Amino acid sequence: MTSSAPAKIILCGEHAVVYGQPALAVPFGSLTATVSASAAKPGSGLEIVSPDIKLAVQLTSVAENGLAYAAQVVLRELNQAVPDVRLEIRSTIPIGGGLGSGAAVTAALMRELAGWFGQTFSAEQLNPLVYEVEKVYHGTPSGVDNTVIVYEQPVYFVRGTAPVTLAIRKAMTLLIADSGVPGSTREAVADVRRQFDADPTRTQRLLDQIGAIVNELRAGLERGDMPPAVIGQRLNDNHAILRELGVSSPELEQLVTAAQDAGGLGAKLSGGGRGGNAIALVTAVSAPVVATALRQAGAAHVWRTELLPNLH
Ligand code: PMV
Repeated sequence: MTSSAPAKIILCGEHAVVYGQPALAVPFGSLTATVSASAAKPGSGLEIVSPDIKLAVQLTSVAENGLAYAAQVVLRELNQAVPDVRLEIRSTIPIGGGLGSGAAVTAALMRELAGWFGQTFSAEQLNPLVYEVEKVYHGTPSGVDNTVIVYEQPVYFVRGTAPVTLAIRKAMTLLIADSGVPGSTREAVADVRRQFDADPTRTQRLLDQIGAIVNELRAGLERGDMPPAVIGQRLNDNHAILRELGVSSPELEQLVTAAQDAGGLGAKLSGGGRGGNAIALVTAVSAPVVATALRQAGAAHVWRTELLPNLH
């Protein structure tokens, strides 16, 4: 058996979403995490291996390990004893890339382990379970990653509320550029928290500005009448605020500037920042030019994705 889950891209609203502002995020199915279960020797217990990163975890070994915890959460939820099973993880999602690697691996692992017991989690069941594990990785996650990854739908997400599908009316082309530098979301989120505590008025103003951009973009995407140049400008604006919040990095600045200068309609860091990835809104014509510029500016990988209309 094999179960999988996609990567995700945050279009706008990261960091502010931790403070109750909305965010827009979409699944990114070109990159996936898969988990395959196979029978292990009787009495050997549950083992989780990730050959790509040379990792092997016994269920009982490390209590704070996110993978072992994910398995424990499933066993608790399904009221099952530890089975003799080997769970093998394969993932094409860069770790620390701001693409939801942790949530995708957790979701795939939970689906696969449930399947081992002949059970299937609905998205409503799985989402809070993945969120529980996200807390081990991130401390105070907003829940946007697990939600978009579990539902595999574009989402308009507000912390603590049921996910709302983001309706996209017109196709858009995005480039995703991996800076090649892993970013620690936990540290970036903690830094924003320190700023908030030191200067709540200034920080709240910046977070509110991000929220306003998200709501404007949501309305524009759902109506389908926002000119691509305006969408791009709002992405630029969102990036400028994230830079002010201190979560950009020299590498991300290079990528964002390269995309803007090469004819991209707009660009911003995406995810926790301090590394990870940047996204650029492009046209079919500008896509190859911007992709080349991103590689020249140091991107380790550049992917292209089309956000397709999901209104029927
Ligand atoms: O770096 P990622 O892909 O885990 O994205 C984190 C998004 C933040 O808004 C920075 C944190 C959160 O919990 O929403």
